[in-house]
Amino acid sequence: MNTKELRQKYLEFFESKGHKIIPSASLIPENDPTVLFTTAGMHPLVPYLMGEKHPEGVRLTDVQKCIRTGDIDDVGDQWHLTFFEMLGNWSLNDYWKEEALTWSFEFLTKELNIPIEKLAVTVFEGDDDAPFDEESFNIWKNLGIPQTRIYKYNKKENWWGPAGVTGPCGPDSEMFYITDKEACGSDCQPSCSCGKYVEIWNDVFMEYHKDKNGNFNKAENRNVDTGMGVERVTAILNNFDDNYHGDSMWPIVEKIEELSGKKYTFNKGNLGFEEEPECWKGDKKAIRIISDHIRAAVMIMGDSRGVAPSNVDQGYVVRKLVRRAVRYGRQIGIKNNFCNSIAEEVINIFTDVYPEIKKNEKFVLGEMEKEEGKFRQTLEQGIKEFEKGIDPFVLFTTYGFPIEITEELAEEEGLKIDRADFDKKMKKHQDLSRAGAEQKFKGGLADAGVETTRLHTATHLLHMALRKVLGEHVEQKGSNITAERLRFDFSHGEKMTDEQKQEVEKIINDAIEADYPVTVEEMTVEQAKELGAIGLFGDKYEARVKVYTVGDPESPFSREICGGPHVEHTSELGSFKIKKEEASSAGIRRIKAILI
Ligand code: ALA
Repeated sequence: MNTKELRQKYLEFFESKGHKIIPSASLIPENDPTVLFTTAGMHPLVPYLMGEKHPEGVRLTDVQKCIRTGDIDDVGDQWHLTFFEMLGNWSLNDYWKEEALTWSFEFLTKELNIPIEKLAVTVFEGDDDAPFDEESFNIWKNLGIPQTRIYKYNKKENWWGPAGVTGPCGPDSEMFYITDKEACGSDCQPSCSCGKYVEIWNDVFMEYHKDKNGNFNKAENRNVDTGMGVERVTAILNNFDDNYHGDSMWPIVEKIEELSGKKYTFNKGNLGFEEEPECWKGDKKAIRIISDHIRAAVMIMGDSRGVAPSNVDQGYVVRKLVRRAVRYGRQIGIKNNFCNSIAEEVINIFTDVYPEIKKNEKFVLGEMEKEEGKFRQTLEQGIKEFEKGIDPFVLFTTYGFPIEITEELAEEEGLKIDRADFDKKMKKHQDLSRAGAEQKFKGGLADAGVETTRLHTATHLLHMALRKVLGEHVEQKGSNITAERLRFDFSHGEKMTDEQKQEVEKIINDAIEADYPVTVEEMTVEQAKELGAIGLFGDKYEARVKVYTVGDPESPFSREICGGPHVEHTSELGSFKIKKEEASSAGIRRIKAILI
């Protein structure tokens, strides 16, 4: 069964159970400023899980495009992917555990014909907050799963939510496929990550509401939220030992084989399960990373709200993905521009399911070409500087030249790099920008530039200073940050006078001099509002937001909802200067400013 058949089978199955098929939402969340990407099928449905009426009714099903950037460093193994597709079905205060689990079981065993012996399931074992999920346990038992393969786990494994500090949450029940891989030990079980058990589906039962005192109360609405990974299920149905042999990935792998002359060591006819350590190291890992990264970058760029590579937010993730792919391409001997020939494969693979990708083909290919070209220039420049004997850390900070490539070059020349020295300097460099960067650019993306981080904090100071000088009507209408400058659009009817600009600069520079601490806290939108935080509110629903406070939390200089990253102390900013103040559009002014 290929991915197309799987998607169709799933949607038709749940349609036959009274569900309405809804389209995949954008990969870039429309109403949630706290996250960069849609990470699960439930994500775009949060308002409806919170009680808002969905126009299509109380039973929904879809296939959702997802991106998880937290996994970028793990990509290269068998199962982690940056972009993946999630099949899901939802009950909005309608059916409950009996139906959800029975349908999951029916779909797995009757529609997909997975033998019951190959399935293991997990249920919540219970604790002080909520009892053992006996209901789910008994449903599985009655469906024919032997008790020895119904595992009971605690919250860490078998609890989902809330999305924020407070909100709906509850126990979940996960379904695992037992592979032919040898178990890692006698107590190997689904919670083990050795690869013997592959998680394929998660049914979440949202029957609790966590309040701000940390109590779990029975919720008014009982929702079911489920998620099944398309790539994983396709792999196990075809007895593949990883995600890369599936039809939504394999043409990409073949293209890379053709471009590099390397083999993916795919042993057709005798699939078995390879030992991970070997394939982790060499060409196979590189091919996996290139496949995953270009595929994800193309899906983000080709989305209906697609973005180009840049230095901030989603654009930064795209840049990182493309650059890593080029680097690994180089490692396996691909010398010339290659990203677009892979991008074309990705577009071919997904056009029938996500037609926006074809519509945006020109944009995707154009931006990809530019980005790869730019990075190759960086590489060439870096190689020249390297040959002049420039310090690897300077190569990194000035030219964005990755240490791994410096090391490769050094090896080719028979030289040795002082890696410990580099790591020490790097650590100092990163400490400056760590605070918020970790939160937002999870997983290998924590090295968001020091400059953009500083400018990010400066933007908060500017926002506040403008409100102080011009009035409370000032609201952020747009923000754009590069390594060189910040750009801030805000509501204000007239040109600022020179005095006003000077006053704003003074307020900001005084705040910098005061060396205020910058702290971050997670809370609900409600709590953020109560604390007087400004910024983009995801209005309708309670989502978890990050609130950055500059100054004494009791009477802060600024408090704003934001994903980060930010510096830890305002003194890191240096000195603030407005370069330009101009009209942006009717009623909106624009400031460009720098830090010196
Ligand atoms: N939201 C659940 C998950 O992502 C289904 O696992």
